[in-house]
Amino acid sequence: MAVSITDSVEAPQLLVLLADGELRSGESLAEQLGQTRAAVWKAVKRLRALGIGVQALARRGYRLADPVELLNAKRIERELSEDSRRHLRGLEVLFEVDSTSTRLLTAAPPPLGLADVCTSELQHAGRGRLGRPWIAPFGSGLAISVAWSFSDAARALPALSLGVGVAVARALVRAGAGGILLKWPNDIWFRERKVGGVLVEIRAEAGGPAQVVIGVGLNVVLPPAARVQIEASGARVAAVADACAALPSRNHVAGTLLDELLSMLLKFERVGFPAFWDEWTALDALNGRPVGVRVGDKITTGIARGADMDGALLVEVDGRVQRFVSGEASLRLMEGEP
Ligand code: BTN
Repeated sequence: MAVSITDSVEAPQLLVLLADGELRSGESLAEQLGQTRAAVWKAVKRLRALGIGVQALARRGYRLADPVELLNAKRIERELSEDSRRHLRGLEVLFEVDSTSTRLLTAAPPPLGLADVCTSELQHAGRGRLGRPWIAPFGSGLAISVAWSFSDAARALPALSLGVGVAVARALVRAGAGGILLKWPNDIWFRERKVGGVLVEIRAEAGGPAQVVIGVGLNVVLPPAARVQIEASGARVAAVADACAALPSRNHVAGTLLDELLSMLLKFERVGFPAFWDEWTALDALNGRPVGVRVGDKITTGIARGADMDGALLVEVDGRVQRFVSGEASLRLMEGEP
């Protein structure tokens, strides 16, 4: 099946010209854009209003505070295997959207065996787990959502977000990252800081088939100002770049991530989480460590003992193992730990 690739909302032309971070005079920008210098200044103000740092240097011109590699559908598609390409129905690369997941949730679901994918430079209402907002300053991260239909909801759904975590970790290794771990149920971790998160949403589940939208948010490169902005919400964050020897390409990370997600979905459909359990267990950041699991207002403390084949977290409490199918786990630091 031919993939439909759409850069349907183009990045503003001024941003494309400034993306490399070089200084350009207002005059040359106006000429290249076929606009007046006043129109260039207006466009600069619009980019700033979107949170994009454009510096204006007196009598010298404009440049981005942080150069950016803009997302590009063709470069993302280049990373896909033949098999992944065959199962991709549509890939939409947007400049701005409320939320990539909301967009897919409100569109018609794909038929069995095919994926619809949406990624965007900016999300104005990015959503995280437990009703929290997902904040990703411009150019710092990746927001990607995949719509997929499973024929067997009961097999697929319980542990899907753990399978997604394995796919994300595989993709980051392919992109050159080392030391990436997973924190149940769906955080991507580097040195006990959050590099990304997974949000799995179910659109319909009528006994048999289930339509899901999987959203992945990753911090790829975090300039100091972006780090401060995200950490203001209380999160301790890291970026994929912190785990790589060389600066990772956003398009390469997006492409490998999509490739690994599609290959995971095909296997998950046939085998379910057992096909990924060994790998998830090897990546489990909490195993054997003291944890607190919050479900609603209740916090249970104990020692994490991995996940079972249904994706439930196992916690040893006073010598007995308890299962948690939902909730939020956090590490409980021992005395003397930082
Ligand atoms: C979490 O809370 O850890 C999950 C974050 C998931 C964020 C991603 S970004 C792409 C997709 N679109 C959204 O609005 N949310 C998910």
